[in-house]
Amino acid sequence: MPQTDVEVIRARVPGKINLTLGVGPLSADGYHPLVTVFQAVSLHDEITASWAPEGVTELRTTGREAHLLGDDKTNLAWRAADLLRQHCSVDHGVRLQIDKRIPIAGGMAGGSADAAGALLACSVLWDLDLDPSELRELGAQLGADVPFGLTGGTAVGTGRGDEVVPALTRGTTHWVLAFSPDGLSTPAVFARHDELRPAPPRPELPPALMSALGAGRAADLAPHLFNDLAEAACSLRPDLADTIALAPKVGALTAVLCGSGPTVAFLVGDEAAAVDVHLALRAELGSEAQLRRVHGPVPGARLVHPA
Ligand code: C5P
Repeated sequence: MPQTDVEVIRARVPGKINLTLGVGPLSADGYHPLVTVFQAVSLHDEITASWAPEGVTELRTTGREAHLLGDDKTNLAWRAADLLRQHCSVDHGVRLQIDKRIPIAGGMAGGSADAAGALLACSVLWDLDLDPSELRELGAQLGADVPFGLTGGTAVGTGRGDEVVPALTRGTTHWVLAFSPDGLSTPAVFARHDELRPAPPRPELPPALMSALGAGRAADLAPHLFNDLAEAACSLRPDLADTIALAPKVGALTAVLCGSGPTVAFLVGDEAAAVDVHLALRAELGSEAQLRRVHGPVPGARLVHPA
């Protein structure tokens, strides 16, 4: 029997851009203290949870890159379902389906989005009555970016990036994303960063960025975007530096690496500029390049079925 009246629950979860990413020194737990400003953007994965008999977990992924993901316990969505069962001492079954659009190993927290979606969808399917802060705490056990996937919007992340506080913003920000055919391993980029900057200062939140966000003008925002992992990512993948350097040539206000890369986000003034920059990037990077116009902020994980 289904646990709720509804046998199919679908959640939509956004990918993220880091407007700033300050990285502190490596801690004993293998993580780095971060100060980051996340923005959720209009590129989503959809996670569907369907009723299955007790003890059963199944997972299927669709999408262009689906073949790169395991449909088993290696998938963060599967682990999210397991964690939820353990936390609530239940043994309910679930069939998960992930419609994958956020790039894999792209620096946009796509795996974390799937975990966030699985937590939300399974908690509703199984009628577990968890409050949002409990879901965020469970999410943090799965990955540093999962709490932000649940929260969305624009938010300041501290700790491992898992302590998330919404930021005051105005208006909509437009971006053109340039994806990369090959992903980058997040631990590898952090390790390279430790080699390049063995004793970085404790990261801080740039006050000018917060004022620019409040004012809601992309041009004011542009000078304050940065990513401490960019140097490490570019040393592993020198082509990324060339892509980032295209910003003035293609008419973007600036370009910033998403998380540990390799996705590059080009900031533009408005929707019309996004079309122009998209075309200019296509001319520079070639017809094979994977590009996409997005905007932010958008909400975090939410249910789209039942509507
Ligand atoms: O939390 P998550 O599993 O997504 O992190 C992946 C890897 O990224 C960690 O194993 C660690 O190597 C690195 N990381 C880090 N400091 C953070 C977040 C992630 O070093 N604050």
